[in-house]
Amino acid sequence: MLQTIATVVVVIVTPLLLLIWWKTPSYTADEPAPVPYTIPVLGNALGFTTYHRKFMDESSASRNGQPFSILVAGRKHYVFNNLADIVTIHKTKTLDIKNFIKMIMSNLFGMSEKEAIKFVSIKPVIHELNTKYLLTAKNNVVEASRYFTLLDEVFNVLDKDIKDSATKSVTKDGFVFVVDTQGIASVQAYFGQSLLDLNPKMLTDLTVFAGEGFWPLLSGAPAPGLLFPRPFTARERAVRNIEHWIKMVEKDESLTSPFIAARMNVLKDQGMEETVIARELFSMLFGSNANSIPTAYLALLRFLYSPSLVEDIRQELQDAGYGSLSPAEYVSLFPLGLPLLRSAFWEAIRMGSVSNTIREVLEPTELVSGDRTFKLKKGGIVTCPPCLVHMNPSLHPEPHVFKPRRFLPKELGGDGENHTKTLKPFGGGNSYCPGRVFAEKQVMGFLAEICWRYEITILDKDRFVIPDNADFHYAVKCPRALFELRLRD
Ligand code: HEM
Repeated sequence: MLQTIATVVVVIVTPLLLLIWWKTPSYTADEPAPVPYTIPVLGNALGFTTYHRKFMDESSASRNGQPFSILVAGRKHYVFNNLADIVTIHKTKTLDIKNFIKMIMSNLFGMSEKEAIKFVSIKPVIHELNTKYLLTAKNNVVEASRYFTLLDEVFNVLDKDIKDSATKSVTKDGFVFVVDTQGIASVQAYFGQSLLDLNPKMLTDLTVFAGEGFWPLLSGAPAPGLLFPRPFTARERAVRNIEHWIKMVEKDESLTSPFIAARMNVLKDQGMEETVIARELFSMLFGSNANSIPTAYLALLRFLYSPSLVEDIRQELQDAGYGSLSPAEYVSLFPLGLPLLRSAFWEAIRMGSVSNTIREVLEPTELVSGDRTFKLKKGGIVTCPPCLVHMNPSLHPEPHVFKPRRFLPKELGGDGENHTKTLKPFGGGNSYCPGRVFAEKQVMGFLAEICWRYEITILDKDRFVIPDNADFHYAVKCPRALFELRLRD
């Protein structure tokens, strides 16, 4: 008996205590003050991953809005919520994202360690490609026109379903509705219908992966296929289909967009195998939808709770000549020609966005914040949550109120706040979201079509909630709104 106890102590308890000791950091007075936690090693990980928004709000409040530290699965995260600090962080060379990208590509998207390192090493080439195709006005307009045309086609099919139905209406799960319209049109625009023909359930796989697998897979837990079979299987099926599809595109590049064709060629030129290219393209499919879909869903819910806003946007569209343009011509209006819709879109983004900027401290780094100088330790993680910046009442008075005219210029009857100076939903620095210009058109275009074409009634007002943030895995799990759609007279 004594021997058994001794064995348990030696084999289990001692290593556990050593792990706890090793992974429990101490803090100096020069570091942002830590937020308490109860579970050793895991630290604040549950709050951080499961109810991120509330956790960040409460942690920030407990530190009177000052920068603070949290422990996430054994690693120190320094959380900065001040706009000026975030700008400094994006510019500081000793704070870097490379290792985080490597972790994403291997844990989340299934590349081997070696492949992920290689991917990080060619990041500058990818960056150049992203800039050329997603950010130069000429190419962005081509992609956006393609998207508007495809979105129109998706909605035309829906219109027919409504006209053919006995009740002249259709009922849809709100979140799935966004996936099946904006999501489908986006995949068609970037990847091509050929990918959806090969796997008509590509967006269902993406939803299972993003909704159920993001944190579990990102954690890097061993045997993810056994522990998290649903998201793991969804990802692997999607990747296999993309790999097969790559072979089709190699024979006929017109099956996809110039952007994705160029991306495939660049990755191939850099010596990447097709299986790895497939994983990279799946990450792109994820990147172009996983933020935009919940953002559009939350914005739509906010719009539906502001009936006069929908009316006013219809008027704005009418005045701008929306009805007389072909979908390919809509690019001439988006975003500047529709200032009210644009302001309401940015207000929805302000209230919903949660995608953190993450940087690793490569060398001990001093960061001046207000009248304090913080000393960040090597190996720590710097996290900048936009949800805290966006709720700062000195930047955005009455931050918890949805004010669709908040970012509308004063001369047009708005509050005149400047979204470019006060919002950070797309990160910044050398990993600044390259899809940001398209994303604005993607979500605004979706919202415009909804206002223009449909009367939407939320059928289950008592049951559903407006998610407090646009994290895919969070929004998809909140009780969803059930929409009844009818064509406008
Ligand atoms: C509302 C929609 C979107 C939001 C809120 C969003 C947000 C973000 C954020 C916060 C990052 C990380 C930035 C950082 O690390 O500092 C990012 C990266 C990225 N996004 Fe977006 N994004 C959106 C839409 C899109 C779209 C439509 C595309 C593609 C067409 C896209 C492509 C990417 C890519 C490729 C990266 C990785 C950039 C890199 O590592 O260099 N995003 N996005």
